[in-house]
Amino acid sequence: MLQKSNPKNDHIQIYIKDKLYPRHQAKVSVFDSTVQGGDAVWEGLRVYPQGVVCLDKHLTRLQQSAKTLAFTDIPSKAEIKKAIKLTLDANAMDDNTHIRLTLSRGEKITSGMDPRLNQSGSCLIVLAEWKPLVYDNNKGITVLSTSQRRNAPQFLDSKIHHNNLLNNILAKIQANVAGKDAGLMLDDRGFVAELNGSNVFMIQQGKVYTPFAHACLPGITRNTVMELCKDNDIQLIEADLSLSEFMNAEGVFATGTMGELTPVVEIDGRVISRDSQLMDQVLKLFKDNIRRYCEPLS
Ligand SMILES: Cc1ncc(COP(=O)(O)O)c(C=O)c1O
Repeated sequence: MLQKSNPKNDHIQIYIKDKLYPRHQAKVSVFDSTVQGGDAVWEGLRVYPQGVVCLDKHLTRLQQSAKTLAFTDIPSKAEIKKAIKLTLDANAMDDNTHIRLTLSRGEKITSGMDPRLNQSGSCLIVLAEWKPLVYDNNKGITVLSTSQRRNAPQFLDSKIHHNNLLNNILAKIQANVAGKDAGLMLDDRGFVAELNGSNVFMIQQGKVYTPFAHACLPGITRNTVMELCKDNDIQLIEADLSLSEFMNAEGVFATGTMGELTPVVEIDGRVISRDSQLMDQVLKLFKDNIRRYCEPLS
């Protein structure tokens, strides 16, 4: 699945540091930390007319990721919300919108890794685009297990939502070469961690399973699914799960803000069952409830 550019995004306004710029003038310096070392943190947000899905949780994760990376001037939630509102209002966006929210460590006085070279403060970027859900959630996606392992905490904690995405990009390249939609990444022990850009769940004998968040991003959509299961008396189990367990599951689906809930229909050429009524129930519960999770900006 290759995303296409949308002409509606040709003239969008993008917020950088303290003001809005038209798309073609929206640039960061070659001295910016994102360019120098992927030294930035980010969130993907989805906008509905009712507000931004799980906004507070996304802002908490952004701030916590920045704290772990020892950013010194992390903007407050109120400041970030103000920048998001300004951007959405400037683009008259209130639906079918995805926001790439980035907080870079900012501009350096000279190239180099050392954060002490960052003397101009952090840089917040609000890139809002017209972007409906990226997958066809009726058709589902095919995935390939990749040789690229997802980071466990002893390497680079996957709980930090940072911009150094090469680990996941290498997995995506392997999937692309094989003509599949996404790369399925295992952890350092060989258990399933997540897809290169989303979390995974499976159904077996009336229960919903998902890998522990040891070597995956603890996704906010993942958390919503877990909450919905709990509220609806559906048994949800976090576990170490092998590739074989996923291949033989009664249903498998991916979760993420970009695509919401997407059935996985093939893993390494093995067809994955689509017959699970429980999986259909979970997908429907999410669709029916997602707007309840929206938070207005003012
Ligand atoms: C590696 C990875 N896993 C999972 C997700 C899904 O997370 P969320 O549900 O918070 O969008 C993302 C989204 O950014 C991601 O980058």
